[in-house]
Amino acid sequence: MQHIRVLAVASEVYPLVKTGGLADVIGALPGALEQQDIEIRTIVPGYPAVLAALTAAEEVRLWDRFYGGRARILAATVAGLDLFVLDAPHLFDRPGNPYVGPNGRDWPDNGIRFAALARAAADIGRGDVAAFVPHVVHAHDWQAGLTHAFLQHGGCPRPGTVTTIHNIAFQGRFPRAMLSEIGLPPESFRVDGVEYYGDIGYLKAALQFADRITTVSPTYALEIQSAEAGMGLEGLLRARADVLSGIINGIDTAVWNPADDPRIAANYTADKLAARAANKRALQTRFDLSVTPKAFLMGVVSRLAWQKGLDLVLDNVPMIARDNMQLVLLGSGEQDLQERFVAASLADPDRIGTAIGYDEDLAHLIQAGADALLVPSRFEPCGLTQLCALRYGAVPIVSRVGGLADTLVDANEMAVATGVATGFQFAPVTSDALARSILRARALFQDTPAWQKMQTNGMATDVSWRLPAARYAALYREVADIRR
Ligand code: ADP
Ligand code: GLC
Repeated sequence: MQHIRVLAVASEVYPLVKTGGLADVIGALPGALEQQDIEIRTIVPGYPAVLAALTAAEEVRLWDRFYGGRARILAATVAGLDLFVLDAPHLFDRPGNPYVGPNGRDWPDNGIRFAALARAAADIGRGDVAAFVPHVVHAHDWQAGLTHAFLQHGGCPRPGTVTTIHNIAFQGRFPRAMLSEIGLPPESFRVDGVEYYGDIGYLKAALQFADRITTVSPTYALEIQSAEAGMGLEGLLRARADVLSGIINGIDTAVWNPADDPRIAANYTADKLAARAANKRALQTRFDLSVTPKAFLMGVVSRLAWQKGLDLVLDNVPMIARDNMQLVLLGSGEQDLQERFVAASLADPDRIGTAIGYDEDLAHLIQAGADALLVPSRFEPCGLTQLCALRYGAVPIVSRVGGLADTLVDANEMAVATGVATGFQFAPVTSDALARSILRARALFQDTPAWQKMQTNGMATDVSWRLPAARYAALYREVADIRR
């Protein structure tokens, strides 16, 4: 088997910088592919948190002037990950969130910042760093999108290219006037180039030029070819459907393992489910809810954003109270949603608990202690929290979209009768449909053997990177061969 080198290009990587599931995927893929004889190095921006984590680093490239300032590429191994770090203080030495400034708005020079990341990646792609000449360059999301445009317009042979869409809602669109500052030639501004509705489209460029396009579930791969979900890119995706596929994400089953997770109150396995009760108790205590083992306790771990449909959960708070169910939410994001969840828990502290913030320990306890996990997303490319829930025996209640449609077996009559159900799916994505699904789940919860069957089915589901890694490996081998 040929040894394949892949350069991954991404704007976040767990455990160094994370705003969402993208970071988890970037952090996990290299390890998952090692056994397939695929070597992945990842180039990421030199944010303060990344530079602070470097203990030893080697400078492999240096520019006196790179998009307005001095810059270099450092090679380093951190937390088991082989990284290239684009150290460009004028672009990345900024506190907080990688994309948004202290005023809550996107940094005004995001177009330049991520053009620089793409440019550095393309240079490595072309062989500028002799120690690592990749067969394949894999760009993730819009922030990495221009990599393929630079490779396309750079002359001489280029490596094979892959683009993965983790979320098509974020496209990276910048004014045409920036073309020369970005460093792209005038002829790149074409309908079949970087042009996107009169602007420069970073994700569009990647989708135009990549040899293969993937997204993070087969259902999302279909959805984004329609006007409702394609957000302007559906035409291009339909035109490129022959190279578009969906590969479901995995989760790190060592970090997410109820049998030895140090972050939860009591460890348990599918054949010792009774031990799970201590986690429910700990969770109810942590949120100051009434500690009742019989109450149907639902959890949420999420960014608070329109995508996630959590306003539908708020619509159902009266029903949750009336029927004596419980709800705990961990999340951060939009102010309005934060305030509404805080208000709901103040109004009904025995039943509703809210924790605003980002808290990995608590995320684990919610998965271990809740009876069910709610994911009512309006759209969801893959979703990782329902995978964690399956593994922890928290039965997922999800909208039937994207990866949520692909990762669980709905508890319809036949699935329950044959004993294969793992969760509850509802459609359309409305408050009423969510309510019906919650009530369906609660009814089954009262049938202990049937409920436990669902829990153990979920826990037996393979949510690891094993299968996805094999699919990425096959894809890399395909495009490595068409290297041009
Ligand atoms: P998205 O990337 O759209 O936010 P995913 O489900 O793919 O959704 O990934 C979200 C990741 O972030 C998961 O690993 C989840 O556990 C984690 N997460 C989200 N919100 C929080 C939070 N408030 N505290 C801790 N972890 C969180
Ligand atoms: C995006 C999507 C999420 C997906 C994650 C990792 O953030 O919103 O559904 O799981 O990327 O691919």
